[in-house]
Amino acid sequence: MFFKSRKDDKPAAAGGAPGQSTSPGRASVHMTVNGKAVSAEIDPRTLLVQFLREQLRLTGTHVGCDTSQCGACVVHVDGRAAKSCTVLAASCDGTAVTTIEGLAQGGELHPMQEAFREHHGLQCGYCTPGMIMAAVDIVNRKGSNVSEAVIREELDGNICRCTGYHNIVAAVRAGAVGMASMSRRQAAE
Ligand code: FES
Ligand code: FES
Repeated sequence: MFFKSRKDDKPAAAGGAPGQSTSPGRASVHMTVNGKAVSAEIDPRTLLVQFLREQLRLTGTHVGCDTSQCGACVVHVDGRAAKSCTVLAASCDGTAVTTIEGLAQGGELHPMQEAFREHHGLQCGYCTPGMIMAAVDIVNRKGSNVSEAVIREELDGNICRCTGYHNIVAAVRAGAVGMASMSRRQAAE
């Protein structure tokens, strides 16, 4: 195991309960995760990745290092990439969090997921959720014409021990084009 389980944390439930009193030594958190409102009373030391994996059972977010180096734990907090192993869940109170489980819509893979599949941007897949979440953030910030050099620089905080990065970079470039197409389709609807 990469982190300690906090069995005494009350499970999160659908539906927020803002304003409820909090037990001494506990923190009350209310956030939206993949479009659903969740609330919980937690140990204030609970990391966001623990909250997602152990409380919400969203195990697509991985832990590779627990020291903010590998990027396996990247999720989006209010639309920006964040390493969830270094963020306290309590500090995300009131935010909207998206994990890899929240990317696909209507049974269709997100264009970045599709690009990773198409371009063989993974082998064992352990780094892949974090890579994809980081890649979507890169395209959101840098645009669909993002260059290979920028992709490589921006992925500096995401480590893959399998692929050698060539296919990952190709996947991100293809995913960027796919995201632009998706945006055009959505704008036309
Ligand atoms: Fe968060 Fe490695 S587990 S950066
Ligand atoms: Fe195995 Fe990246 S695919 S660590």
